Amino acid sequence: MLYYMIFLFCLISGTISEDTKSPRIVIVGAGASGIAAAAKLLENDFQNLIILEAENRIGGRVNTVKFDEYAVDLGAQWIHGEKGNVAYELVAPLNITDHSKPMNDEVYTSTGELIDTRITKNITDTYLTYFETTAKFTGDKCQRSVGECIEHKLKDCFKKFPELNETLQEQLLWLFNMMQIGFDPADSWYDIAAKAYSEYSICEGDQAMNWRDRGYGTILDVLMKKFPNPEEELPVLNKTILNAEVTKVDYSSEDNSVKVTTLDGKEYIADHVIMTPSLGVLKAQYETLFNPPLPELKIKAIKGLGFGNACKIFLAFNDTWFNAKKTNNAGFRILWTKEEREKLDSNPKTRWMSYALGFFFVEHKPRLLYVWVSGKGARLIDDVTDEEIFDQTVQMLNNMLSKDYNVTRPTAMIRSKWYQNKHFRGTYSFQSIETIKTNSSALQLSEPIIKMGKPVILFGGEATNKHYYSTVHGAIGSGWREAERLISLYDKINSTNKSPMTK
Ligand SMILES: Cc1cc2nc3c(=O)[nH]c(=O)nc-3n(C[C@H](O)[C@H](O)[C@H](O)COP(=O)(O)OP(=O)(O)OC[C@H]3O[C@@H](n4cnc5c(N)ncnc54)[C@H](O)[C@@H]3O)c2cc1C
Ligand SMILES: *[C@@H]1O[C@H](CO)[C@@H](O)[C@H](O)[C@H]1NC(C)=O
Ligand SMILES: *[C@@H]1O[C@H](CO)[C@@H](O)[C@H](O)[C@H]1NC(C)=O
Ligand SMILES: *[C@@H]1O[C@H](CO)[C@@H](O)[C@H](O)[C@H]1NC(C)=O
Ligand SMILES: *[C@@H]1O[C@H](CO)[C@@H](O)[C@H](O)[C@H]1NC(C)=O
Ligand SMILES: *[C@@H]1O[C@H](CO)[C@@H](O)[C@H](O)[C@H]1NC(C)=O
Ligand SMILES: *[C@@H]1O[C@H](CO)[C@@H](O)[C@H](O)[C@H]1NC(C)=O
Ligand SMILES: *[C@@H]1O[C@H](CO)[C@@H](O)[C@H](O)[C@H]1NC(C)=O
Ligand SMILES: *[C@@H]1O[C@H](CO)[C@@H](O)[C@H](O)[C@H]1NC(C)=O
Repeated sequence: MLYYMIFLFCLISGTISEDTKSPRIVIVGAGASGIAAAAKLLENDFQNLIILEAENRIGGRVNTVKFDEYAVDLGAQWIHGEKGNVAYELVAPLNITDHSKPMNDEVYTSTGELIDTRITKNITDTYLTYFETTAKFTGDKCQRSVGECIEHKLKDCFKKFPELNETLQEQLLWLFNMMQIGFDPADSWYDIAAKAYSEYSICEGDQAMNWRDRGYGTILDVLMKKFPNPEEELPVLNKTILNAEVTKVDYSSEDNSVKVTTLDGKEYIADHVIMTPSLGVLKAQYETLFNPPLPELKIKAIKGLGFGNACKIFLAFNDTWFNAKKTNNAGFRILWTKEEREKLDSNPKTRWMSYALGFFFVEHKPRLLYVWVSGKGARLIDDVTDEEIFDQTVQMLNNMLSKDYNVTRPTAMIRSKWYQNKHFRGTYSFQSIETIKTNSSALQLSEPIIKMGKPVILFGGEATNKHYYSTVHGAIGSGWREAERLISLYDKINSTNKSPMTK
């Protein structure tokens, strides 16, 4: 009986102390941002938290999967820069990443002609130099789109090469347009705001660090401290509920609690909710997800910031025919002829193809090539079946390269599908012409909703990061930022509660 009483007492006091001491926190989304927030909170002794994740896996847009014998990234793949990059800083001491080789590829027309590499290298270097250094195009230097700024530079560069007739120039501009919208996923470089480049911070150093035989998914284990020492693992996974799609975030209650409802009808009551779903999800669902509706400024930011698309197709081969020349080649970009583009455009099933940038090597994975499909092409391809994509890709490869290479048939293919997935609705955010026109900003998106002086709904995620949006390091930084917001809030509350006693 006594034992029973003690047991009961502990049970009750345990529950009570949990409720009064530690605030109830719900994190929506177990991507890089949500996991970073959870890890930071747990490290600071905020135990009373739960992560609700809609997918049947963690990681979100970090998605490393097994393909052939390799780990491949259907989402984020490279660490963009070193200095000031929180993702790089986490892994730098672990020696698990590797530097990229210089961008060195061949440009072939879609009908199989190799363009003089001396010319394509010069133009590409001019583009990249402009993009990385002078391309801090401040607003006053170039008021309009990135496309308009770069087009001028490239046209100047074309003049150096009399071989480039108008036809080739037009095709090259399309190619660089497709490259640019690989960085900022608009449908065209004329829709990317040049002004954005004065806000986005490029971390100094290697812009494409790879993970050797691993994938970017390793960062999740590093954040949860599962890697490199499994004994130090934080209980992030234990606090994550998978297949839990949040359908309602109700912050109308007078006691300032928030009721979070999932698709299966379960309800979670929290003092604070950290939202991390992509901007694509917010654009599609902000009207139905929140009660009461979000403040006007927040809605403006959700509508005004850009969110776009890209698709990756990985091909596995049982040999390395593409590396037969053993040069420093890193892939093959496609120069689509205008006629070819028009032909592809006439059929909804092939329309995606002219947005394909080319076939590229995957470092440390020697039997793979991947195709990057930019912008609108990445939306169109979601309606095409894997079998069709396989055949189209093989055709494309042969048309381009079979004159110069012994092209073999791929043994397997895997492709991403970010646009159609309602838990993503695209790839990453960017600043469009509309963003500038409406004066929308990541900062507005990141503002928490405050009730009675306390942040009740907080916003993390890649798109809320003013300087590092569109990246994994931006997502991690945003998760930490929101965790810190709560940590410092309770530091303040604790110290004001304590102050009468310490006086
Ligand atoms: C193809 C591709 C290539 C990329 N390449 C790079 C790269 O090389 N380097 C780089 O730094 N970045 C890259 N990125 C960007 C990077 O992946 C993202 O910026 C980052 O992973 C975003 O993390 P996040 O936590 O903000 O969002 P997410 O990863 O989207 O996490 C949000 C989570 O919320 C979940 N969710 C959504 N709705 C709900 C709901 N209603 N209820 C519950 N859960 C929900 C989602 O399933 C998801 O898991 C790439 C992205 C893509 C798609
Ligand atoms: C402050 O309060 C929070 C919640 O009330 C608690 O989890 C945390 O341990 C406290 N921190 C300190 C430093 O006392
Ligand atoms: C880092 O890892 C690479 C590849 O595994 C290895 O060759 C190298 O010696 C390692 N460097 C250090 C300093 O441990
Ligand atoms: C491109 O070629 C021109 C003329 O041949 C040369 O002056 C210029 O430095 C080259 N630019 C780059 C980036 O290689
Ligand atoms: C432009 O140059 C390419 C490559 O030399 C050639 O195939 C094409 O016919 C030329 N086009 C015109 C319009 O001269
Ligand atoms: C997760 O929960 C299980 C079962 O309760 C436990 O054995 C394990 O140690 C927990 N993991 C972490 C990292 O706390
Ligand atoms: C293609 O195969 C033939 C016959 O085996 C060989 O002679 C040739 O060198 C190969 N070409 C390339 C580019 O590998
Ligand atoms: C490699 O793939 C080709 C095409 O699928 C096949 O014909 C060939 O037998 C394969 N070779 C090996 C060694 O598996
Ligand atoms: C744009 O927004 C910023 C901050 O949100 C504000 O300071 C500025 O005045 C706004 N400018 C215009 C033109 O609305």
